Parts: sequence; C-alpha cells; structure tokens
Amino acid sequence: MQRHGAPLCLPPASPTIVSTVLTDLAAAVHDPDEVQPILVCSRRFAESPAASAVRGLTADLLVVDKGGLEEVLSVRRAGRPIVVLFDDSFSGADLRPHPGYTLRIVSLAPLATSERQRLGEALSFITPPDISAEDLRIAMRCAVREAYYGDQCVSLDSERRRLAGEVTRLNRIGIALSAERDPERLLEFILTTARDFTCSDAGSLYIIEKDAEGNRRLRFNNSQNDSLPNLELVKFTIPVSKSTLAGYVAATGEPLNIPNVYVIGQAEYSFNPAFDQRTGYRTRSMLVLPMKNQNDQVIGVLQLINRKVSRAVELRTSVIEDVVIPYDEQALELTFSLASQAAVSLTNTQLYQGIKDNLNELKTTQAQLVQSEKLASLGQLTAGVAHEINNPLAFSRNNTHLAHARVTSVHRRLHANNWLNNSAGSSAERIAAGRAVLERLLADKGLAADVKEVSGEIGGLPPPQQLEMLRDFLTYVIRKKENEEGPIEELLARTQKVLEESFIGLDRMAEIVLGLRNFARLDEAQFQTADIDEGIRQTLMILGNNARDKGVHLESSLALTRPYTCFPAKLNQVVLNLVNNAIDACKRGGTVAVRTREHEGNVEISVQDDGEGITDDNLSKIFDPFFTTKPVGKGTGLGLSISYRIIMEHRGTISVRRNENSGGVTFLIRIPVEQEAPKTQAERT
Ligand SMILES: Nc1ncnc2c1ncn2[C@@H]1O[C@H](COP(=O)(O)OP(=O)(O)OP(=O)(O)O)[C@@H](O)[C@H]1O
Ligand SMILES: [Mg+2]
Repeated sequence: MQRHGAPLCLPPASPTIVSTVLTDLAAAVHDPDEVQPILVCSRRFAESPAASAVRGLTADLLVVDKGGLEEVLSVRRAGRPIVVLFDDSFSGADLRPHPGYTLRIVSLAPLATSERQRLGEALSFITPPDISAEDLRIAMRCAVREAYYGDQCVSLDSERRRLAGEVTRLNRIGIALSAERDPERLLEFILTTARDFTCSDAGSLYIIEKDAEGNRRLRFNNSQNDSLPNLELVKFTIPVSKSTLAGYVAATGEPLNIPNVYVIGQAEYSFNPAFDQRTGYRTRSMLVLPMKNQNDQVIGVLQLINRKVSRAVELRTSVIEDVVIPYDEQALELTFSLASQAAVSLTNTQLYQGIKDNLNELKTTQAQLVQSEKLASLGQLTAGVAHEINNPLAFSRNNTHLAHARVTSVHRRLHANNWLNNSAGSSAERIAAGRAVLERLLADKGLAADVKEVSGEIGGLPPPQQLEMLRDFLTYVIRKKENEEGPIEELLARTQKVLEESFIGLDRMAEIVLGLRNFARLDEAQFQTADIDEGIRQTLMILGNNARDKGVHLESSLALTRPYTCFPAKLNQVVLNLVNNAIDACKRGGTVAVRTREHEGNVEISVQDDGEGITDDNLSKIFDPFFTTKPVGKGTGLGLSISYRIIMEHRGTISVRRNENSGGVTFLIRIPVEQEAPKTQAERT
C-alpha cells in the first residue's frame, strides 16, 4: 500500500470526471508525509456560493459528476481517504463503502432510512436544508478529520498487524537459529530465510576467517540462486578489502543497498561482473549486510541479490527491469536484524562446538590423569607391598634352603650309617650298595673330591679290599659330618627351628596378601557393613614403607567399636590419600596421627600431621580437581577432589584446619552413622 506522500493520483483522463481543483484549496497546507483526504463534490456545489464552506480544509478537492463519483470510488480502492459532499447531483449513485479506503459522506440532501443503513458508519453528517455556510464548513471539517483519523487508524492497525507478523516470524526464526547446532546447516538456513524475507532471487554468504599469518579474509561459503539452481558451489577466499562489495561491508561494518550494481558511480567499491559474464546471469539490485555478533564484531557478510516483485517470478523468462526492484528500508531493517541474530547464533554455535571439543579434550585428559593416578597409586602400592614381603620372603627362603641342605645331609648320613650297620647280603651286593652310597655323597661339595678318589681306587681292588675301603671311607664320612654338623638328632632339632621361623615368615606374607586383598576389597566395592578401623589398619600397613623411607612416624588411635555401613574400599582410598598427603608434607622425624571415634551421630576420622601446613591462598583450592603444589609428574592434584566426592557420597563432610601448636594441618572427616543405601541405576533413571 503506497501511503506516505502519495501524489494526488487520479485515474487517466475520463470524460465523466471533471477535475477542477479550486486554487485556494490546492494551495492549502499539504504535507507530503501526510495522507490528505480527497474531498469530492459536484460541479453544482463547486460553482455555488456554498463552495466557500470548504475553503482552507486540509484536503484535495475533486469536482466530478455522478458517473465520475462512482469511478473515483472504484479506482480509489486501497488509496487515500475520501470525503464525499453528497448533493442531488449524485442521487442514486452507488456509495457503498469499501474496506480498501476510508469513506465519509456529508449529505446536503435528506436520505431515506434504507440509504442511511446502507451507508452505515460512512455517513458523517446530514445537513438541514437551511444550513449556513459556517455550519457546513464545520461539518466538512469534522468529516475531513474523521476521514483522516479513520484512515490513520486503519493503516496503523494494518501496520501493527504486519509488524506483529514480522515479530512472530523473527521470533520463530530466532528460535530455529538458536536451536541449530550444526554450523553448515545454520548458514544455509540463514541464507534461505533472508532470501524468503526479501523475495531475493539469489544470495551468498561469506564467513570471516584468519589465514596462516593471522590476516582476516572472507570465505565464500554458501550460495543460492533460484535462476541457476544447478550452480556448483566453488568455495574461495577474498581479502577483507574495501574494493569489493563484500570486503567493503566486512571492513566497515556498514550495509550497502545498491539499486543497480551496474550503475554504482563514484565509490571505493565496485561490482565484479565476472559471475554474470560466466553464467549469463544478470545481477541488478543488491543488499549487502554485515553479520555482527553480540560483541559488535563482523563475523560474516550476507549478500542478497535481485529483489523480485514476487518470489514466484522467474528471471530467465522476464525482462529484468520489470521484475527486479531495489531493496527498501524495510527489507534492510529486517534483514539487518536477521543477520545479527544469525551472527549471534553462529558465534554461539562456534562457542558450543569449542566447548564441546574442550570438554571432550578435558574428559580425555581427565581419564588419562585418573588412569595415571591409578597407575601411580598402584606403583606406590606395589613398592610398599614388595618391601613388606621382601624381609619375610628373604629369611623364609634362606631358612628353607638351609633346612633342605640339612635334611639332604641327614639323608646321606643315614644312608652311610645304614650301610655300615647292615652286613646282610653277598659281598657283591654289599659292594653295589656301598657304591650307591658313594654316588649320593658325590653331590656333597665338601666330599666330592674324596668320593671321586675312593671310587677310582676301589675299581681295581679284589672284593674283600673293596669292602674294607668302603667301610673305612664311610666311617670317615660319618665322623667328619658329626664333627661338622653335630649328631643327627641335634641337626634335625635345629632344622625344625629353622622351618618354624620360615613359617613365621610365610604367615607374615599371608597376612600382607590378606591385607592387600582387604584394602582393595575388590569383592567388596559395594555399599555394605564393614570394620572401618580394620580398613584403616590395612591402609596404614601399606603406607608403612613409604613413611619409613621418608622418616615419618605413623601413629594411630582407632576407637570405633562396631562395624558401619559405608563403601569400605572408597573410605580406604580417602584415608590413603590423606595419609599420603600428610607424609608428603612432613619433614624427616615428623609424625602423622590417624584417629577414629564415634561422636554425636557421626563416624569421625582425623588425619593430623606436623608438616609444612597450607597457605591461606591454597586453602580454598586444595579440593579443586587438578590443584597441586607438587612438582610435575609427582602429584595429579586429584587425591583430595576424589576424596571429597567420596565423602559427599557418604553424605558427610571433610574439612581442614591448621594445628594450633604443632604446625601442620588436621583433616577431619565426618560421616553420619546412619547411611542410606545408595540408589541403584534403575532407581535413578
Ligand atoms: N596435609 C597436607 N599438608 C600440606 N599440604 C597439603 C596437605 N594435603 C594436601 N595438601 C595440598 O593440597 C594439594 C592437593 O592435594 P591432592 O591430594 O588433591 O593432590 P596432590 O597430593 O598434589 O596430588 P595427588 O593427585 O597425587 O594426590 C597438594 O598438592 C598440597 O599442596
Ligand atoms: Mg594427594
């Protein structure tokens, strides 16, 4: 609807319309931005002295005959408001009001009831026959004003409706824009929507990126063209320079609205006709807009090409000048706001993508760290266990070797004794049995040389001398052994002792292995009733080696008198972390004390050290994941954050305070005695 500043546009010359605009009325105030009503009257009235009544009114006067009146009303549809001064000359004319314009009628002649009803709201005034010029003037002024304001109301209402429609549409687009997380789909959507909004035949989208040297450049990323639907998109980049249209907009952040790109005149930028020349396309009107994000940064350029009178028109089959129109202010405003929304969505999508990538990276790093933390504590555990087992293992092993050597020796001595004490059998049988004893003695390093010599010698002797020699040698062996090892009974008694010592070592090892199993509680990773003190004892045993190495004393005062429901393996993990930290904080000669008790409905576990303490600055950070003051490769900074999480799982608290006199800190864990069983996966979902 063409409204503001509309010229008084009459239909083409018609024999029925007599157009006589009174000079003084034509000269009346005429603001081109206002929509002046047209005041239609008959020639009779215009030529009568009563015409002075309409002088000075803010309206354009049109003098017509009856046929002309009907014609004016029919062609004025969707035009300016009309006031008809109705007199006898118009009687019988069809004055039906039409929704396309505002009509007001001042009747100089009386009207029948049916006529009044037909005119309805349009009828402003019926003058008495003897109305004075002054009264008529007032009636006309009212009718003109009424027509003007009525028209304003209609146009404001339709403008309101149009704006509401646009707001709804923009809102829908805004929602759709913010919901799209895929950047490529988002860009296509932005371009399609902007073209729909503006009835553009074609459009392109450039994205700002940085080259290897960090210079900004424009990447031609999306292109749509109704006239060339099969056009293949070739992505390319251009510098952000004011010489091209997109470059100019990217560099200045200002939009360009060009009615005809082939007639740009004097400007820093120019249109590159290469595309038109290559494809036979004809570019004419163009709207180039910056896509500015929430920080007012231009992140892309939206280029809309050839605004058409209707989206359905095909450029190929039309004369371009007839169907392509310039972009107006309204298109510029709308697309500008759309481009900004799109830029914000695009920035958000990029941020979202970045956050997603960072999160994935963080998760991977965290998994690696947790894994390496596990490996580190596994290494620590293994070292502790190896150390603990080494002593009992070493002496059990030595003792077993010793016992084995003694038992073997006893065995050999018994064989020699048996041969000497047993004279049954022929001399050949006795010699064979004696040689078998020698064979056994050969394995004894202390006797091997003598045995070899005797065995060599007896081979060449007659049987009686052989028997003689064997008797002498074995008697010598028995004496020698008795001298060296003592009597067999004593030797066996000593061996028994050695074996008993080995049992102690083996028991110790069994204890350590059991302790390790208890600590890991692989079979008890669940929520259950457990002896918390016992768990702590096992943990301290495992850490004993680490403490000894660092010259730190471990003390414990464990005073829980009954089992509690908890995650025992996880609590062990917490105590392990706290005691490890405490040992790390202590100097040689320092002490770490672990205490437990039941107090005011809570199980309390405290770990106190007299180490270096924690600075004010660090105190607020120690439970943060990855916070560590330990050298790279030493601490992961996860120990306390994992511990914190575990205590939260027990609905408890973990706090730390500085010790008043001894220096160092005390960590205090409190977990309610009554623990609720955690929800199962099925209950949680
Ligand atoms: N008893 C303590 N005395 C002094 N500082 C401590 C003590 N306990 C913890 N801290 C401080 O808190 C930081 C975080 O401890 P946390 O157990 O979370 O990580 P970490 O010991 O550094 O590494 P890890 O993951 O190997 O345990 C430590 O680096 C240390 O600075
Ligand atoms: Mg730690």
